[in-house]
Amino acid sequence: MDVAMVERLAGPEGWSLLQALPEYDEASALQLQTRLREHGVDPALLAAAMGQSRLRARAREKFGEFARGMLLTSDGLEQSTRLPLAARHAGRFAAAGIALVHDLGCGLGADAMALAALGLDVSAVDADPVTAAMAAVNLRHWPGSTVRCARAEQVRLPAGAEARTVGAWVDPARRTVGVADARGRTRRVRSLDDISPSWDEVRGIADRVAATGAKLSPAFPHAAVPPGAEAQWTSWHGEVLECAVWWGPLAETAGRTAAVCGPGSAVVVTEAAAAGALGREPLGSLDTMGDWLYEADRAVIRAGLTGALVAAVDGTELGADMGYVTSSAAYDVGWARRYRVRAALPFSTSTLGRWLRDHGHDRVTIKKRGIATDPDLLRRRLKMTGRGKGGSEATLVLTRVGGRQVAVVVEPA
Ligand SMILES: C[S@@+](CC[C@H](N)C(=O)[O-])C[C@H]1O[C@@H](n2cnc3c(N)ncnc32)[C@H](O)[C@@H]1O
Repeated sequence: MDVAMVERLAGPEGWSLLQALPEYDEASALQLQTRLREHGVDPALLAAAMGQSRLRARAREKFGEFARGMLLTSDGLEQSTRLPLAARHAGRFAAAGIALVHDLGCGLGADAMALAALGLDVSAVDADPVTAAMAAVNLRHWPGSTVRCARAEQVRLPAGAEARTVGAWVDPARRTVGVADARGRTRRVRSLDDISPSWDEVRGIADRVAATGAKLSPAFPHAAVPPGAEAQWTSWHGEVLECAVWWGPLAETAGRTAAVCGPGSAVVVTEAAAAGALGREPLGSLDTMGDWLYEADRAVIRAGLTGALVAAVDGTELGADMGYVTSSAAYDVGWARRYRVRAALPFSTSTLGRWLRDHGHDRVTIKKRGIATDPDLLRRRLKMTGRGKGGSEATLVLTRVGGRQVAVVVEPA
């Protein structure tokens, strides 16, 4: 795909072809393409439109119905923010009274669209010409928004009084261009040193524009949280998708926070909530295991806030920072799963295997943290492959207590 093809797709002929295509169906795509070619549709335009149709079908999961009006690249889609989280980002700028946001590396424009939808003007750039051209198409509904192809480093940012109602948003690329993974997608980078624009550049932007936000990898190191800023780890349906850093008026709670999000819900956990558990030691041995085991949402674990769960359930952490907490009381915590403890055993294949067989189990769901074991290999060793007659399934939590490997057999509550 090149910019000329983006322009053709966005032009009258390309757009009406694109919008007339039926919902993408892999099984009939080739047949459809052949039929349209026979009807005289230009093969190059048709191939590009079919590619868009396939990407739009994939994009529905992130953008819902909006996907039908967007132009997309595979990498751009992969890196884009899903709309509910983009709306959360945009909400911070709106709440801080920001009128114009510089989106410095806008990708396909998902965050920019959410900002524009809240009535903010967006001045977006992307270093990649095709991506920038597509973002311009995706932002066409909002006349107050502009997109051009430029590097973030070249953008003149406002200073002084001019900057008061201006914000900056940076969602650096976390992929190595030209290095593909097994599925042909560019490989994801984890280190702060490898992102583009660089972490130094991002911090430089935050020095100039008080209202700066940046979306970074969930692997963002706690030690890198800038003083006074908020670093928020966010999960969507239990998967941690980002750590966003918010400076100046965009920071709601300085320090580390976790946002546990799903459709129509978001719960924020803060360091203050975890402070109630300060000084409480993790469990020393299995003898003091309570009747209940709680598993914190991964965003809470990534943010290092399992202490908030300890405080919420008046419990004790199993191993430090593993995300498991035990308590003798049953609480409903929206951002943690609760299990009833059936048995807590030292992690020995023979003891565990015997316990499982004695209780009529022939297969296991394995959850593990802090233990390097191959679940499939363990299932075979435990003879829990589901090939028995009429056995039932058990849930095992493998983790560490007092430095030792343990297996806790649990039942979801
Ligand atoms: C993670 S994507 C942005 C996704 C976007 N927030 C969204 O939700 O659609 C990062 C983008 O930054 C662009 N980029 C990388 N380095 C850049 C730079 N120095 N200046 C401008 N854009 C850059 C890449 O081309 C890529 O499209």
